Amino acid sequence: MNLKNMLKKSNNAIGVFDSGLGGLTVLKNFLQVLPSYSYIYLGDIARLPYGSKSADRIYQYTCQSLDFLFKKNCKLVIVACNSASAQALRKVQQEYLPNNWPDRKVLGVVRPLAEEAALNKYKRVGVLGTKATISSQTYKKEIKKLNKKISVYENSAPLLVPLIEEGWAKKSVCNKILKSYLRPLKQKKVNYLILACTHYPFLLKKIKHLMGSQCQVSDPGKIVANSLKDYLNRHPELKIKQVKNPELKFYLSDQPELFKNLGEKFLGQEMKNLKQIDLEK
Ligand code: DGL
Repeated sequence: MNLKNMLKKSNNAIGVFDSGLGGLTVLKNFLQVLPSYSYIYLGDIARLPYGSKSADRIYQYTCQSLDFLFKKNCKLVIVACNSASAQALRKVQQEYLPNNWPDRKVLGVVRPLAEEAALNKYKRVGVLGTKATISSQTYKKEIKKLNKKISVYENSAPLLVPLIEEGWAKKSVCNKILKSYLRPLKQKKVNYLILACTHYPFLLKKIKHLMGSQCQVSDPGKIVANSLKDYLNRHPELKIKQVKNPELKFYLSDQPELFKNLGEKFLGQEMKNLKQIDLEK
């Protein structure tokens, strides 16, 4: 392929960014709902968990990750990471993009997930997320903006991300910890639960079971994928084209072995194009 065609191809890719494995729960839905687009996935596994970092640190890491994906020619990046969406997205959209990448677009995950909860008229909504996401109260604010009458109950679950990244999602210790994080939300009798961390859908079945039939728990990746589909339909001017042979590339900021092993099982496909990179260079 000549250079011009190569550039054209990567111009088309949609960037997907998360601190680690979690974003794969979003990417998997993109591949199902929007299979004819090319994607570049960036997992900042060297610096995870983002959920226990300060807002300033998360903003810095997010900008570095966006720089990387923009230099790969992505016109549009989905910040799949809730912690980054909650703590950094607004500043990225209002300051970072206009000053550095005025022709690029970045979307987060909070808005579509909050809309799903608020517009379906659930009265008592639970939010389970990282410390960074919950302390920002971004979900609560977004839901209240859409419907003041909804009661929102939030809880952080800081131990889940490391367990999932370690491949411990199915171990009984994970179940025990999960139960204790869900208990306060169950006690509040929430009838809808937002999984406000991309890692938690790895535990979707268990969470549904533990919350019981009175509580609806959706797969956030599916909601984000449908919202991206709608966004792409509304923005033909971005000229992100569907292609016959879409590409799927993975970049990781540290040793990829464990990520690859767990990620391939989860996605049900081989990660052929995978490279280790340094985001701090
Ligand atoms: N999966 C990310 C999120 O959605 C962050 C996990 C972490 O790095 O703490 O919040």
